[in-house]
Amino acid sequence: MKRPLIPVAAPSLTAREHRYVNQCLRSGWISPRGPFVARFEQRFSRACGARYGVATCNGTAALHLALAVAGVGPGDEVIVPGFTFIATANTAVYLDAKPIFADIDPVTWTLDPTQAARRLTRRTKAIIAVHMYGHPVDMQPLRHLAHRRRLALIEDAAQAPGARYRGARVGSLGDAAVFSFDVTKILTTGEGGMLVTSNRRWAKQARLLRDHGMDPRRHFYHPVIGYNYRMTNLQAAIGVAQVERLRQLLTLRRRHARRYARGLAGVPHLTLPSSAAWADHVYWMYAVLVHPQSGFSRDRFMRALAREGIETRPFFPPVHRQPPYRTNRRLPVVEAVCARGVTLPSGATLTEGEIDRVCRVIRRLLRTPWPT
Ligand SMILES: Cc1ncc(COP(=O)(O)O)c(C=O)c1O
Repeated sequence: MKRPLIPVAAPSLTAREHRYVNQCLRSGWISPRGPFVARFEQRFSRACGARYGVATCNGTAALHLALAVAGVGPGDEVIVPGFTFIATANTAVYLDAKPIFADIDPVTWTLDPTQAARRLTRRTKAIIAVHMYGHPVDMQPLRHLAHRRRLALIEDAAQAPGARYRGARVGSLGDAAVFSFDVTKILTTGEGGMLVTSNRRWAKQARLLRDHGMDPRRHFYHPVIGYNYRMTNLQAAIGVAQVERLRQLLTLRRRHARRYARGLAGVPHLTLPSSAAWADHVYWMYAVLVHPQSGFSRDRFMRALAREGIETRPFFPPVHRQPPYRTNRRLPVVEAVCARGVTLPSGATLTEGEIDRVCRVIRRLLRTPWPT
């Protein structure tokens, strides 16, 4: 497959990842049994400020387990932002529950707590707060709401390891949090995920469900129906190396964001990502909005960048406009943001020269010379 000149995200893999994977290969421990899985669970959950980690084959599986252990079931409603990756909503449907879509905040592009409160009914069982592109959700009002109404509060932190909300770590702000380690993510295992929680009972139940519902003390005895959602030792070996490098991987994302902010400052009709005063944003993706007054539709803007060898991605389309979820309900902020949003190259391997090139091309397209 031909790579674009500047890819939207590529993984940073060093001698450390190679060394740990080679240890797996030499030892023969390539299945979910093997020492790296527990090590990864311990190291990553500690980094999130949570007591327990349950590693899974991907982030969607972790989210499914989180809702299952929260007791979400048939007929329940789960509040989900209309702007997220579709897996957030799908996992509610896996449990025969119904995702109820709420609008987002126009500055942070994450679930608006006031809008979430408006969508509660007697059937609401859980709220999923999604930390979009690495910006944390305003969690305090959601925590109060969840407490008052006895709802489970799950963080979908797939895009935001290392982010903080009022100084507290993402992953420690709700009843449980889930992360994705797919290849574009800040910390990757190729495919992978983790549920973190400080609730011992939930962690135990999630482990049981992850392993076909098999009693860990009785081989092939299954008190409940579970899933095969395990992570392999090979994936976890990469994960341990990446979590040991987490600080470096976060520094890179933040440094890239600062350089983009300088390079794109003052370009009219382009909204750069904001960071609320209470947020420590980790910029999984450097995401911008292209307004029609620029003379470019979002898609024409993306095509113009592609012609220059610069790969971008559109924002996820509104989930309530996707065929399985289509409704007449309007979520005006979600719809405006999704129609205009583009993510620029953001991976850990991006160089300063590449960021400058992306900024130069955008300035040329939007007819804004470099400031002197
Ligand atoms: C917000 C969000 N939730 C869930 C997921 C699902 O994670 P995975 O692709 O690892 O299953 C993703 C993945 O991109 C995501 O961005």
